[in-house]
Amino acid sequence: MKAVVQRRYGSAVLGDVDVPVPGPGEVLLEVRAAGVDMGTWHLLTGKPYLMRLFGFGLRTPKTPVLGRDVSGVVNQIGPGVTGFAPGDEVFGTAKGAFAEYAVAPVKQLARKPAGISFTEAAAVPISGGTALQGLRGVRAGQRVLVLGAGGGVGSYGVQIAKALGAHVTGVCSTSKVELVRSLGADEVVDYTVADFTGTYDLILSCGGDRPFSRLRKATAPRGRIVLVGAETGGSVTGGFERSLASVALNPFVSQKFVPLMSTERADVFDELRVLIEGGKIKAPVDRTFPLSEALQAIDHVYTRRSRGKVVVTI
Ligand SMILES: NC(=O)c1ccc[n+]([C@@H]2O[C@H](COP(=O)([O-])OP(=O)(O)OC[C@H]3O[C@@H](n4cnc5c(N)ncnc54)[C@H](OP(=O)(O)O)[C@@H]3O)[C@@H](O)[C@H]2O)c1
Repeated sequence: MKAVVQRRYGSAVLGDVDVPVPGPGEVLLEVRAAGVDMGTWHLLTGKPYLMRLFGFGLRTPKTPVLGRDVSGVVNQIGPGVTGFAPGDEVFGTAKGAFAEYAVAPVKQLARKPAGISFTEAAAVPISGGTALQGLRGVRAGQRVLVLGAGGGVGSYGVQIAKALGAHVTGVCSTSKVELVRSLGADEVVDYTVADFTGTYDLILSCGGDRPFSRLRKATAPRGRIVLVGAETGGSVTGGFERSLASVALNPFVSQKFVPLMSTERADVFDELRVLIEGGKIKAPVDRTFPLSEALQAIDHVYTRRSRGKVVVTI
């Protein structure tokens, strides 16, 4: 099969590899589309180096094919799999989604939402799941600020916070203002023109790495500051020290810092399916790229040109 093969960190090529075999608890998918997010860039480059200690492979990547977010059709089920059968349309995360076929653990798969395309479904799992987990506990009427609102996680953050009944302010650069408005934000701040003002019950920080003092100033006493990520932390630790510092600060401040470590789980993807089928959120697909241009797709996200989500179609 054709796949984007990565034998070492920093480079990947379209090549031919064997179709993978599903193990216990896994299924083989005919991949229809694969989502791209900042995580794909991290897996391509092996940066920050700290992530290599967390099971991704110290010197070379453990998974030889790139790509995680996936949508497709079940082709074959592995030993012990129940609840899925060949022909089922699914979405979730897989090992090596930039390929014609990929193996996925069923604990990371849910039924594809009805009424959306495979391309849209592949744009949902990691970004939508991260936003959902970061916004747990938000109540109707609360004020939510989303930093990086025009990116992958942020674009779902705006929609999910609105679906929860919050008053939402999205912060982004000029080219993403229209998108963020169209996603339902009550207020949109173009940070190249003005900085955000006001007080929020929750800040979902998906870009920009604002100083803690700035974030606290904009957060109500007992409010939460959810640190999703930013690309300003350097090649070694990638901002992990910022997460540690935020936890160390918690006992001394009235607000709570929450360094988010999202998980890829079927129940989370199923919650997203329900939100999509109920018309509460949509997959904001900016651009698609063919499999042969998967690296360009990653670069499009890395260079912050993407509005919402980017998808590789197979
Ligand atoms: N914690 C977790 O479990 C988890 C899970 C998924 C992703 N992440 C991380 O979360 C971050 C966001 O991921 P993503 O996939 O959403 O990336 P993305 O699609 O690149 O979105 C990030 C957004 O941040 C915006 N941004 C950059 N500087 C900004 C600033 N100064 N103020 C406001 N916005 C700014 C960028 O565009 P503009 O500047 O043009 O507006 C971009 O739209 C990444 O660092 C990723 O690695 C963490």
